[in-house]
Amino acid sequence: MRVIKVENYDEMSRVAANIISAQVVLKPTSVLGLATGSTPIGAYAQLVQWYKEGYLDFSQVITLNLDEYSGLAEGHVQSYRYFMDTQLFNHVNIEKANTHVPNSMAEDIAKECERYDALFEEADGIDLQLLGLGNNGHIGFNEPDDAFAGGTHQVKLHEMTIKANSILFSEEEEVPQYAITVGMKNIMKAKRVLLIVGSENKKEILEKALYGPITPLVPASILQLHPHLDVITV
Ligand code: GLP
Repeated sequence: MRVIKVENYDEMSRVAANIISAQVVLKPTSVLGLATGSTPIGAYAQLVQWYKEGYLDFSQVITLNLDEYSGLAEGHVQSYRYFMDTQLFNHVNIEKANTHVPNSMAEDIAKECERYDALFEEADGIDLQLLGLGNNGHIGFNEPDDAFAGGTHQVKLHEMTIKANSILFSEEEEVPQYAITVGMKNIMKAKRVLLIVGSENKKEILEKALYGPITPLVPASILQLHPHLDVITV
């Protein structure tokens, strides 16, 4: 594990974007595992800027996002598909068909989870997995639980997560109660993992995740077992 300590959110975004862009430059056919939330917004903006300046080419890149809320209609402004389109995909030369987000509107959720896991197999795994950290230690939407979940699955979101994520909704009641998330297996199978933490108030949970016991009660603690984990933190 390598922990990169930075001064502030902007520096975190720039260092993260440097690592992601190095991955894409060195392997133009990279498979990127991508995250949503407020943390990666700055890194995505930096990637868009470098693309516009001609330094990056996403034409052969494949992306697999971590998660999606259940029950938000296609194109909903709070959906993670909308987030990814507007923060990154619409502004670079990535093929939309190569960008994947779980389809939470699928009629058969179990089938959708299987389909999503199969995409990881087809892509031959993730080259670089970007992760944010939930206030309760979740990664993707893998909430604290009695056991680590392996495959893509539907989860009931914890109160704390609903509260934290409600800042992007006009009312807390609007935050979906359920989501689909990639499980630990495909996160941990990524060749490299990049965990970014951009706010001081996550210090305690980050400490637990990186140095505490490996437990599903702190889902991110499983990352201690990853052979190539970089953490960028303020
Ligand atoms: C959200 C997402 C996670 C994200 C986390 C932290 O619920 N499902 O992928 O990393 O919570 O969000 P933020 O970066 O806004 O603090």
